[in-house]
Amino acid sequence: MIVLGIETSCDETGIALFDSEQGLLSHALYSQVELHADYGGVVPELASRDHIRKILPLIDEVLIAAKLDKSDINAIAYTAGPGLVGALMVGAAVGQSLALVLGIPAVGVHHMEGHLLAPMLEASPPAFPFVALLVSGGHTQLVKVEGIGRYELLGDSVDDAAGEAFDKAAKMLGLDYPGGPRIAKLAESGDVSRFRFPRPMTDRPGLDFSFSGLKTFTLNTTQQHKVNGVVDEQTKADIAAAFQSAVVDTLTIKCRRALRQTEMKRLVIAGGVSANTSLREALETMVSKEKAEVFYARPEFCTDNGAMIAFAGCQRLMAGQHDDRSLKATPRWPL
Ligand code: KG4
Ligand code: ZN
Repeated sequence: MIVLGIETSCDETGIALFDSEQGLLSHALYSQVELHADYGGVVPELASRDHIRKILPLIDEVLIAAKLDKSDINAIAYTAGPGLVGALMVGAAVGQSLALVLGIPAVGVHHMEGHLLAPMLEASPPAFPFVALLVSGGHTQLVKVEGIGRYELLGDSVDDAAGEAFDKAAKMLGLDYPGGPRIAKLAESGDVSRFRFPRPMTDRPGLDFSFSGLKTFTLNTTQQHKVNGVVDEQTKADIAAAFQSAVVDTLTIKCRRALRQTEMKRLVIAGGVSANTSLREALETMVSKEKAEVFYARPEFCTDNGAMIAFAGCQRLMAGQHDDRSLKATPRWPL
């Protein structure tokens, strides 16, 4: 079965072709990062317009790359939510229209299920069951995964998501959106021992997270070190290092706790923040002590992409699931 995957939930147009027999055939991504850069975040109206501009040319691009024609597509998977409603509607409308014209099924995929399953596109995919840490711009969740569609929420953020905290802290340090990779880069030249940021909610039992305190800590530390209204570059780097280390430690402590609690030996990390090198290193060290394993996707499949939607959709379709012809665009949708 050849599935065309369409991802348009936020500021990335991601298109891919996944074959249930041969795996990923081709994929293409267009990022709107530069479009939104001047605004310090994603502008929903501009995002929808840009998806409209790019979606059909990208579908042609993946077909050409895979040397296929539209008539070779057997089904369509599009991101149905959560995300920006206007952006989602572009993918849903194009996906459903194409399915209607080609006379093939379409399925609306949960964006976070796409992220969750993305590490399965790699050469050594994790076997079920496993514990998954979903860390993106909108979510920070620990999930017990027994199989496709069999998900149990173990922990969630009570306020900001980890990626959102990275983005907000970056803004305070004068860095552009998306802040995660920029903080990570700046932290490389920082002294991690100069400031000690808290590790929120690690001193009490449970698997929930809170990241809004770290944002406040970043703001206060930045304010305290202003000289004539400016913070020097070394101090900024030291703050970035302290912030990143606090997020990484917190996530690592909770992942260890989740592995012990579920008595599982496989950890999967997914979503934009799972591209963070420092987080990967800390988790590798932790799992080796726990005699467990950690799995993640290649960096380009950690952030939003069409391959993860094509893959997740293919699993759903093979299980016999597909939508009726109504459009699904659900901005808020629990996994
Ligand atoms: O999964 P994603 O592309 O979109 C959502 O579903 O939200 O995640 C985007 C988030 C942003 O907050 C971005 O700052 C963060 O992932 N991110 C990172 C890194 N790369 C992306 N955070 C930390 N380190 C990175 N290397
Ligand atoms: Zn995402």
